[in-house]
Amino acid sequence: MKVLITGGAGYIGSHTIIEMIETGEFSPICVDSCERSTPETIDRIEQITGVRVPFYKLNICNKDALFRIFEEHKDIVGIIHFAAYKCVPESVEKPLEYYRNNLQSLENVLEACLKYKIPNLIFSSSCSIYGEVDKLPVNEDTPMGAPFCPYAHTKQIGEEMIRFFAQVNPKFNAVILRYFNPVGAHKSGLNGELSPDKPNNLMPIITQVAIGKMKQLTVFGTDYDTRDGSCIRDYVHVSDIADAHIKALQFLTEKKNISNCEVFNLGSGNGVSVLEMLHAFEEITGVKLNYVLGDRRAGDIPAVYSDSSCAERLLHWSCQYGIADMVASAWKWEQNLKLE
Ligand code: UD1
Repeated sequence: MKVLITGGAGYIGSHTIIEMIETGEFSPICVDSCERSTPETIDRIEQITGVRVPFYKLNICNKDALFRIFEEHKDIVGIIHFAAYKCVPESVEKPLEYYRNNLQSLENVLEACLKYKIPNLIFSSSCSIYGEVDKLPVNEDTPMGAPFCPYAHTKQIGEEMIRFFAQVNPKFNAVILRYFNPVGAHKSGLNGELSPDKPNNLMPIITQVAIGKMKQLTVFGTDYDTRDGSCIRDYVHVSDIADAHIKALQFLTEKKNISNCEVFNLGSGNGVSVLEMLHAFEEITGVKLNYVLGDRRAGDIPAVYSDSSCAERLLHWSCQYGIADMVASAWKWEQNLKLE
């Protein structure tokens, strides 16, 4: 069963392709503009799996280019749509780029589903759609909050677009996956997150400080109403996130869905503070981190973690990896990158 993976050379996309090849049930086709990823990731996937994935280097905001893939492969049964911009502070600075890129691509994907009668779609959403919440953990019934940045807003609008589209297309089926904080790398250390020169996310900053690419790390806020004053997040191993996509596809292709637009949280259920993560890294790797305590970062919410019982019950998904695996694999990847 052929499945098109948009953003397949990206962080979560590439790990999902690896997982998909290893499971064997689906046959991935990768499309990626490589604007924020690199085609060498296709080599990395081959190195790990021994399989050369069919790869189209194009921007799916170009509808004609996207549609040509479906003209070539008439037997695609599903799409996993990862391709999107995902940097929270950048989205605040460049809102229109985020709306254009994240929504235009999704619209084209949905049009492709209609035109080529693709029955199954998995969509990458985010826990950021919940905004600031009163009650933790959040589950799928927790309402969307006020969007705190354009990135989160594009995910909210994206979810609604899919929901309305599904309402009038009963043969179309979607699963929306709300990721919490994906971190870590493939256990081989041969594939992981390729961060920009100045990463924004905590784990690549930790590993870059540890290896000496960055001088220092700032803990953004130590006066939050949390157990140690720093923000609490729900970190999930990227390979667990990847596995959830295969399970979501099976769920749809085996017609186990009740509604034709289902939503699942993907988190570990375990809230970890920034300081706890830093100390875990130091303990597991034996490397001391150069960090300072700083002010809050604009747009951060104090705490969020997931109730993922819905994914456990219906997708039979749960996290196989813990914090130690996340840290160790991310560190192995950073060290491998240095050797390249
Ligand atoms: C956010 C979104 C998430 C999205 C991700 C994409 C929320 C709740 N989640 O994750 O859905 O997929 O962006 O980028 O908004 N931190 C530091 N120092 C640093 C960097 C980070 O203390 O140098 C802290 C942050 O303040 C935060 C935590 O580490 O408390 C995690 O930050 P980050 O990795 O950037 O992810 P989120 O902002 O939680």
